[in-house]
Amino acid sequence: MNSIKVKRICCIGAGYVGGPTMSVIADKCPDLEVKVVDINKERIDAWNNADLSKLPIFEPGLDLIIARTRGRNLFFSTEMEKSISEADMVFISVNTPTKTKGLGAGQASDLSWVEASARQVAKYAKGHTIVIEKSTLPVRTAQAIKEILKTTNVENQEDESTKNFSVLSNPEFLAEGTAINDLEKPDRVLIGGEDPRAVKALVDIYLKWVPKEQIICTNLWSSELSKLAANAFLAQRISSINSISAFCEATGADVQEVAKAIGTDKRIGNQFLSAGPGFGGSCFKKDILNLVYLSGHFGLPEVAKYWNQVVEMNNWQQDRIYKIVLEKLFGTVNGKNIAILGFSFKANTNDTRESPAIRISCDLLEEGAILSIYDPKVSFEKISSDLNKFSINNQGIWNIAESISGALKNVDAVLILTAWDEFYGLDWNYLASLMRSPAWIFDTRSVVSRQEIHNTGINLWKLGEGS
Ligand code: NAD
Ligand code: UGA
Repeated sequence: MNSIKVKRICCIGAGYVGGPTMSVIADKCPDLEVKVVDINKERIDAWNNADLSKLPIFEPGLDLIIARTRGRNLFFSTEMEKSISEADMVFISVNTPTKTKGLGAGQASDLSWVEASARQVAKYAKGHTIVIEKSTLPVRTAQAIKEILKTTNVENQEDESTKNFSVLSNPEFLAEGTAINDLEKPDRVLIGGEDPRAVKALVDIYLKWVPKEQIICTNLWSSELSKLAANAFLAQRISSINSISAFCEATGADVQEVAKAIGTDKRIGNQFLSAGPGFGGSCFKKDILNLVYLSGHFGLPEVAKYWNQVVEMNNWQQDRIYKIVLEKLFGTVNGKNIAILGFSFKANTNDTRESPAIRISCDLLEEGAILSIYDPKVSFEKISSDLNKFSINNQGIWNIAESISGALKNVDAVLILTAWDEFYGLDWNYLASLMRSPAWIFDTRSVVSRQEIHNTGINLWKLGEGS
């Protein structure tokens, strides 16, 4: 079997996956040239910004890798045609959001961007090109990609003899906030494909830093489905512990203690058992809804119903938090000042997609609360567009605070929604003096301990423990 020597890689999509993934590949494989292309010029300009604090994505450790690789063997550009035509291997790492209209709206993935990318590859590629699905996709998308590549090939008769493709699935399992560590030390790398030479070419790249035993090769459909299943299982764990958090509040049990007690069973394991305001992020909800849609499509309504409940539980968790705030503040928040600490969907990222903070903030604004929002990494523009309904016509009053103490001035309550490091071990004695009595802390991430607020006069409600 002749091996394929990959020298140039192109990645379509310079987002949360494309950017960090290609940076790590470039870092680990200095002999490869890696080009990341995107239709969004502003994003590409940000990736090329000399000031590394202005990269479009905040990920711990990413700036150091960019400093080492950018301009050496890693390049960000909008030059689609050139980058694709020179590449031996093209990763498709574009967005696959939930469809908002048409058949499957609200559940199925919108594959417009994937299809557009495949058409660009079909048009510009030269010679043999390995095309890799990096985006999370519905099972059997590889078939559609193959057909697009084949059909467009036939249209370009003059290239037919030289142009041909192998399609692989190589889903990404990184989590935001720990992306660099996840990419450098992955639990596993998954590669699905039928062409052994193409599979080997991709395996050889990962072998530069990932042990052989951790590279799993499967057929295409297993690889595509494993990604959806992994996210569904992870999200299911969060909905499970969140359902138990409500049970704890009703009975006097403590969700931290329950999580520890059940997590010590090796079969259950202690990871991913933190109760919170519900899972956010761009993927869990969209991927489960996609699984629900596909289950229906393949005639499995019971399976669809089962997974849909994970999303329902997540919606309920967010809903019940704002209602608890309302109830504790004597049934009304109208005209009351409330600080929101943390707006990103988890710590160590500036990403707010599907952040529980958006829905909870909107519900409180709807009730007439005046919000003072502090997040160490999320920009005013981002928060403003997320609360867009409340940015127009001045309905609802909210502002951005520059510091924790700035956010807490004159507030009746503070609601902690993200577990940023700086929210731990705060001087609550001092902060209590800034707040209006009777002051409340609503802690959905278990960052405040009861000892810390002892003698401060503040009331504390903790998710999964109560008040
Ligand atoms: P993103 O929105 O941050 O980035 C996607 C980028 O693709 C955008 O910058 C967009 O402009 C670009 N794009 C779209 N169509 C294009 C085209 N035709 N040509 C060139 N560029 C184009 O998305 P993301 O978070 O990086 O996610 C990408 C995929 O990876 C999704 O399928 C997602 O489910 C999956 N995924 C995401 C994560 C994560 O943590 N965000 C983790 C694993 C997998
Ligand atoms: C998740 C998966 O962890 C990744 O493996 C996957 O690649 C990625 O989705 C994807 O496909 O996009 P991510 O969403 O970045 O990664 O972050 P997670 O750490 O999984 O957190 C997701 C949400 O669950 C956050 O809102 C987080 O606060 C919440 N969470 C997580 C909890 O409430 N409790 C936990 O114990 C863990």
